[in-house]
Amino acid sequence: MAKKSQATWGGRFSKGPAELMLTFSESVSFDQRLASFDIAVNRAHTAMLRHVGLLSGKEMKAIHRGLKVVESKIANGKLKWKPSFEDVHMNIEQALTRIVPEAAKMHTARSRNDQVATDSRLFFKFATDTLVSHLERLQRSILNLAERNQTVYIPGYTHLQRAQPVSAAHHLLAYVEMFSRDIKRLETVYDDANWCPLGSGALAGTTLPIDREFTAKALGFVDARGRARVTRNSMDSVADRDLFLDFAHACGVCATHISRVAEDVILWNSSEFGFVDLPDAFCTGSSLMPQKKNPDSLELLRGKSGRIIGSLQALYTMVKGLPLTYNRDLQEDKVQVFDSFDQLALCVQVLDGTLSGMTFRSDRCQDAVSDPGLLATDLADWLVSEGVAFRDAHHVVGALVAKAESLGVPLDQVPQADAEAIHPKLSFDWRVVFDLERAMKAREGIGMPGPKQIRRQLNRWKRAYGV
Ligand code: ARG
Repeated sequence: MAKKSQATWGGRFSKGPAELMLTFSESVSFDQRLASFDIAVNRAHTAMLRHVGLLSGKEMKAIHRGLKVVESKIANGKLKWKPSFEDVHMNIEQALTRIVPEAAKMHTARSRNDQVATDSRLFFKFATDTLVSHLERLQRSILNLAERNQTVYIPGYTHLQRAQPVSAAHHLLAYVEMFSRDIKRLETVYDDANWCPLGSGALAGTTLPIDREFTAKALGFVDARGRARVTRNSMDSVADRDLFLDFAHACGVCATHISRVAEDVILWNSSEFGFVDLPDAFCTGSSLMPQKKNPDSLELLRGKSGRIIGSLQALYTMVKGLPLTYNRDLQEDKVQVFDSFDQLALCVQVLDGTLSGMTFRSDRCQDAVSDPGLLATDLADWLVSEGVAFRDAHHVVGALVAKAESLGVPLDQVPQADAEAIHPKLSFDWRVVFDLERAMKAREGIGMPGPKQIRRQLNRWKRAYGV
């Protein structure tokens, strides 16, 4: 059944949209979360209209009073969001006009296209800020964990094969590096969002004498020196969705990092590794097997990364074929970034909670790292320092490993005669290398897992994150 013609744009229509079309096209069910930004935009826009003489002081004041009322109605859950008004912008305008007739002038010199672009930019500034503070909290937790585990050694892996020993702290500090780049990416999105598109109109600005810099300043779209930042092409301003892609990408990379951390910890927590104990608060049991304590938080973190990465893909697909400028397809953009934000915000906090309560089982770590094979490379390095070419040294140690395997003994237990038969330099005291402390102390170059280097990195990050 056709409805009465739409209140805001219905002038040229004799019939309203079909019920099905209303259900299909509404966005207020998901974009109502832009309400606080939309109200701020309304406030700034009407202040600007007053400033340039398109509204009287009285009209502006009435609108601002009305916006306060609508704002508190929304906060108290008293505003009835109507799908028939399509989106958050028209719902707010309609609610306002009902109590303040002057609000009929509010949409002067703007379009929902520049309005939604402005609301979205305010959302991105808020969302990146929020994610950065969650990530900074996570960084502090990882740093505390690393601080406590500087002398717990574990095997580092390549191809999921034990490769070389590292301290747990070194492994954890790799995560700190990853998340610090995620923070940087989010901060870049914040900075790129910090340009005001309001005044671009539907696509070609307006014939009315507006002051774009006034609105930009009122909404906080300013540079470090307080100068207004205003977008420079009205068509680009309403059509581009780079920010949506950039935000979704920043979230996607961060979610991917979280997923990899989760996978590490799932392995470490397995009975086979047994390197860590997880906090009960972030694990669940089995409905059938009473002995189980499953790392569900980490598995969900791994799983949710797929969803967050998927949002980026959805946005690319949505945007890539669109002619300039605005097309209604773009209404779907918010679904993706809201979900990326919500899920990532949860993921960062859950990882924080899980890692904060995690402890390393030093006995199990010690067992795993005591395999002298992990120091085979150190033995090759030792031969190099004895004047053997690295390629030869590699070969010699390879032969020694094969010997150990055939004799069924650890690498450092190959009988002296067998060792010397492989290479004369092995007549010297080659077994000194099979000492973890020595191996770690020998790695004090920048970025290596030597204890002094770890201390230096810890101090640097602790200063950066105020630990
Ligand atoms: N709800 C719309 C969106 O989010 C607002 C812009 C509507 N513009 C239009 N020309 N129909 O995309």
